[in-house]
Amino acid sequence: MPETILVAREGRVAVLTINRPDKLNALNQQVRDEMLDLLVELEGDDGVGVVVITGAGDKSFIAGADIGEFAGRSPFDQRWAMRSPRLYDVMSAFPKPVIAMINGFCLGGGCELAMSCDLRIASDKARFGQPEIKLGLIPGGGGTQRLPRFVGLGQALRLTLTGDMIGADEAARLGLVEIVVPHDELRTQTLELAARMAAMSPLTLRVAKEAVRASEQLPIEDGIRYERDLFCLCFSSEDKEEGVAAFLAKHQPEWKGR
Ligand code: COA
Repeated sequence: MPETILVAREGRVAVLTINRPDKLNALNQQVRDEMLDLLVELEGDDGVGVVVITGAGDKSFIAGADIGEFAGRSPFDQRWAMRSPRLYDVMSAFPKPVIAMINGFCLGGGCELAMSCDLRIASDKARFGQPEIKLGLIPGGGGTQRLPRFVGLGQALRLTLTGDMIGADEAARLGLVEIVVPHDELRTQTLELAARMAAMSPLTLRVAKEAVRASEQLPIEDGIRYERDLFCLCFSSEDKEEGVAAFLAKHQPEWKGR
């Protein structure tokens, strides 16, 4: 049983809550290890269609890496702590959608983790930033590469070089979060959206995520060719037959996941 993460099920949605509210849910090694173990478990669990990540308490999603672990640490020890598989990469390649439910401070490694998710839903009280520069550090969880892809080069440089925090509305305007909701509606609205997604064919969700994620890596011609191949691959699934037949017969599809 994980000690730092609470696991809850809401139908086909698994909600993972990082449970270190006294440290604003900072990511220490134990959280990272336990999260990786849980993701392996959830990947193989056919009862789970979508994963939601959040932080315990009312104040913070994740306030970054646990700064206490940095003090006096050698480069060798840090490199070992950053060994593969890394949580950020595992989440972005995870075969089911992962939603960040951002309930407060979303800083440093927390912002990087949110950017590794497939969708970000934020409370209107959430605050975002990459404050590593204030510690004599730079983002180390992919932030220097993912942030510019979300907000553009100029805004990424602004946030990275100043360490300034921005509010949820500005984060949405910049493209760092997709949806902002009133703080006390965050859980309901996130779970409602997650449930709608989890009701889709798990097979098709996986292929759709893979296709869109490929756009991060591939030149557009290669990406479009890849999309065509995945689209045609869907024609081998029972779920494509079911989805099309259900539309034509005007009833709800019953997905088989194959
Ligand atoms: N790592 C370890 N502990 C952290 C932490 C982090 N990233 N962020 C917050 N905490 C701890 C604080 O040390 C404090 O612990 P204590 O009560 O034992 O002293 C507790 O969480 C509450 O934080 P506090 O600073 O008192 O809350 P605040 O509301 O005054 O400020 C922040 C909130 C987020 C502005 C502030 O905690 C902060 O700047 N945190 C660091 C953010 C950061 O630099 N992240 C990137 C790390 S690479």
